[in-house]
Amino acid sequence: MTNTPESPSSLTPSNGSTEHGVSGVSPSSAPLLQLRAITKSFGAVQALKHVDLEVPAGKVTALIGDNGAGKSTLIKAIAGIYTPTSGEILWNGNVVHIHSPHDAEQLGIATVYQDLALCDNLDVVENMFLGHEDMRHRTLDEIKMELAAKQVLADLSVTTVKSVRQKVASLSGGQRQSVAVAKAVMRESKLVVLDEPTAALGVSQTAQVLELIHTLAGRGIAVLLISHNLNDVFAVADRIAVMHLGTLVSSGPVSDYDASSAVDLITTGESARSVSTMAPSS
Ligand SMILES: Nc1ncnc2c1ncn2[C@@H]1O[C@H](COP(=O)(O)OP(=O)(O)O)[C@@H](O)[C@H]1O
Ligand SMILES: [Mg+2]
Repeated sequence: MTNTPESPSSLTPSNGSTEHGVSGVSPSSAPLLQLRAITKSFGAVQALKHVDLEVPAGKVTALIGDNGAGKSTLIKAIAGIYTPTSGEILWNGNVVHIHSPHDAEQLGIATVYQDLALCDNLDVVENMFLGHEDMRHRTLDEIKMELAAKQVLADLSVTTVKSVRQKVASLSGGQRQSVAVAKAVMRESKLVVLDEPTAALGVSQTAQVLELIHTLAGRGIAVLLISHNLNDVFAVADRIAVMHLGTLVSSGPVSDYDASSAVDLITTGESARSVSTMAPSS
């Protein structure tokens, strides 16, 4: 759980190498993640069209848009599953090349997909360490892993999981989501991407997960939340970014939006109300 992220050679430049002024942006003032003119084509289909997006640390950025808008494609580009056709990804103001999920993880990007990728037949500890088992003398250090799992859940104020030796199959949807998020955070993630985390949840479980998202941001983590649920978005987001047919049509602080302007932007890509737009900065 104390993995110190090291920059593999594919990530350029390495941490601390700021002399080159790659982007002309001071890393101290740069957002944690910045996408510049990201385009992704699948044959004739342009799933992403020159997307500019900033995801700052310590804030919840909600990415909203109708089915087919390009949300999943965008987060897969951030997570290293798809390589953009063109455009740049900047991390703390430095251009990086994320060619694989491993590259993303090394930077501190954790993605919690809708299916959660948890194993029902394993317990909470086993799931949280799956693929990252703590090896001591070639045996699993069970006690250390159990303590670490408990600590992360406690840090995130996840109080409803009674035993970390419980099989994941026995957990509620909200608890499963919490375990998946805790697993992501345990890797010392700096950015947590959540794909529709409350889609399958009831009212009180949704409240639990929204509280957890709020806790993550409070700990300085950047959260990128993909959601269809505008109630959730307005409850927890600091910033909103709206996609429509592959284009990022609007982004800004949540106070610039209301339910009606958000719905207009989602359905038509435009809003009669005055909202922040992604006009090129001068
Ligand atoms: N692997 C793929 N191959 C071809 N087209 C794709 C692929 N993935 C997504 N698309 C297309 O890209 C567009 C955006 O899809 P997606 O990112 O899944 O949208 P969203 O997540 O917002 O519903 C859609 O038109 C979809 O059909
Ligand atoms: Mg999707």
